[in-house]
Amino acid sequence: MNLALFGPPGSGKGTQAKFLVQHFGIPQVSTGDLFRAEIKAGSDLGRKAQIDMDRGDLVPDDVTIEIARRRLSVPDTAGGVLFDGFPRTVPQAVELDRMLDGMGRRMDRVMFMQVPTEVLVDRLAGRLTCPKCGRTYHPKLAPPRVEALCDADGTELIMREDDRPETARKRISVYLEQTLPVLAHYRQQHVVSDVDGTGSIEDVWQRILRAVRVASGGPTAGISVAADPRGNDSPQGLVGGQ
Ligand code: AP5
Ligand code: MG
Repeated sequence: MNLALFGPPGSGKGTQAKFLVQHFGIPQVSTGDLFRAEIKAGSDLGRKAQIDMDRGDLVPDDVTIEIARRRLSVPDTAGGVLFDGFPRTVPQAVELDRMLDGMGRRMDRVMFMQVPTEVLVDRLAGRLTCPKCGRTYHPKLAPPRVEALCDADGTELIMREDDRPETARKRISVYLEQTLPVLAHYRQQHVVSDVDGTGSIEDVWQRILRAVRVASGGPTAGISVAADPRGNDSPQGLVGGQ
């Protein structure tokens, strides 16, 4: 199954991606995380991407498509992928369609996370990120169990450079201008589920799960994350303190 979390910066894509990955057993492909890994490794690609990321601009399509293509060639993606923050322009969406088609696959469902701008700015302003695994926290909205340490691996949490209020606002306006048109591309394919991204992390997770199950024709009654047979996809289990 190929799924995508689509929405503005701070809408909860990374937060919900962790639950989807565990629930469906598919890898997360976040172009933002891939770029941050390149920056950390000091690669040429990372150095180029950092200039755009620090300004709150999008990285050029050719660079982004190439990094996504490379990730999709890794065998762990054969059974499906959860895209987070990709595609973010219409040319990226067209190219992704082509890549999936070449593998005999298609985009099965795009979850459009809807969150008002004021809420986005508040969420981003306080966000703490684990530089090792990418999990995100918030001192008030989603605190880690131990202050400033990742619940999953104990790594010290950091603030992302591009979460400074002026850069975060710029990212939101870039989203509105350049990324929102991607939604029409997927609406034409009838694969978009509109998801209310407000409320608790658990509430949002329940809505996403329901959307995926409705879309795949599965049962929706009595969905409970606690009732999941693997018992490991509860937001509390991953985020802590909620
Ligand atoms: P990327 O890393 O993808 O960032 P983004 O899309 O701007 O999204 P964020 O990661 O900021 O937000 P999120 O939706 O994941 O929210 P989160 O779950 O963390 O991209 C960064 C940059 O890389 C881009 O600006 C661009 O330069 C470049 N780039 C990446 N992909 C690209 C592409 N395809 N093309 C071109 N350039 C690209 O949640 C946010 C906060 O809210 C957290 O603190 C969390 O704990 C909290 N929270 C989440 N849900 C809730 C809830 N329900 N209630 C309360 N708090 C919540
Ligand atoms: Mg993210």
